Amino acid sequence: MATTAEQMTDPAVITEPHRESEPNPNNGYKTFETGSFKFERDEYFVRITCPTGTHIMDVENFLRSMMRDVAWGFFYGWVNFDEVFGTVNHYDSVDVFIGAYNQAYKDSGTDFTERFESKSLGACFKSLLSDWTNAGFDPFAAPLETGSARGPKNGNNDEAVNFQRELANRFVSLPGDSPIRSDETGRPVNRQFADVDQSEPEVHAEEEFEGQLAAFNLFRYLSRSPVTWNPSIVSVVRSSAYCPTSEEHILPVDHGNDRVEWFIQMSDEITWKVGDKDTAAPMSVVTMKAGDVACMPADIRHRGFSPKRSMLLVWENLTPGLEKRYARGELPPVPASF
Ligand code: PHB
Ligand code: FE
Repeated sequence: MATTAEQMTDPAVITEPHRESEPNPNNGYKTFETGSFKFERDEYFVRITCPTGTHIMDVENFLRSMMRDVAWGFFYGWVNFDEVFGTVNHYDSVDVFIGAYNQAYKDSGTDFTERFESKSLGACFKSLLSDWTNAGFDPFAAPLETGSARGPKNGNNDEAVNFQRELANRFVSLPGDSPIRSDETGRPVNRQFADVDQSEPEVHAEEEFEGQLAAFNLFRYLSRSPVTWNPSIVSVVRSSAYCPTSEEHILPVDHGNDRVEWFIQMSDEITWKVGDKDTAAPMSVVTMKAGDVACMPADIRHRGFSPKRSMLLVWENLTPGLEKRYARGELPPVPASF
């Protein structure tokens, strides 16, 4: 069949609301359907069905990935739950795919993608996350700090799944902006950061600069993060955002970049597995120790492994439309070539 102009244009955007079943009489969980995708869970696994096949995932890993996709509003670019299933953010619409960024699926023609309005897909994923998260399981917590998601339905943990990221408009601790973390604001020091200095810098502003000058102890701030792999924003200068985060165990999503991002390892150590964004082929293993700085190129996917709780600063460039300039090849995927 000849390729018509219509086939070359963007796919249709699905806006219809999702469907939810009655709870399964055997395990208590609802089944969710949106577009041509069906999501089912049992005591151990999640099954995702689309017209070209079925994909199965461990339920805990799935819920940890889903938590990030929901809380981050689909994030920048690709959120791969594993090498097969994930989402791509187009910033008002989102693709859901099976195998579309996996060479073996593409070669066999079993890849499948549908595009959704962000709002309607977000509502589906949020409802699924709430129904499938049992009491005692916090998908944002390190595995050693939470219970299990496995087994039949047992209550919920909406307090955990509604956790809001702390996003400074300008700078943490400025009047009216994101506050410093303390015991009083419900942010105790994490068990693995008991040795972190808790003193705050003194700020002495000249009279006319009062309320405009701020400083805070970023190590103290991160020692009090209650969650893992969930960057907050501590400063925004034009399009430059500092997004520090505390990490423990495995980054639940394999992030496919749509722009360059920079990492500064502030404490301990993270090993990153880096792969090809389009094919999932492994490319490199990068171990970052305290003080190391790395650029994650715009054409890769990466997943971090943090054996102890560690502090990472992610530096993001929020310039509007940047992802389109990289996608067109207008900007090189790395800031320097050697
Ligand atoms: C990333 O994809 O760059 C990323 C996401 C979450 C983190 C750290 C890094 O906690
Ligand atoms: Fe990333």
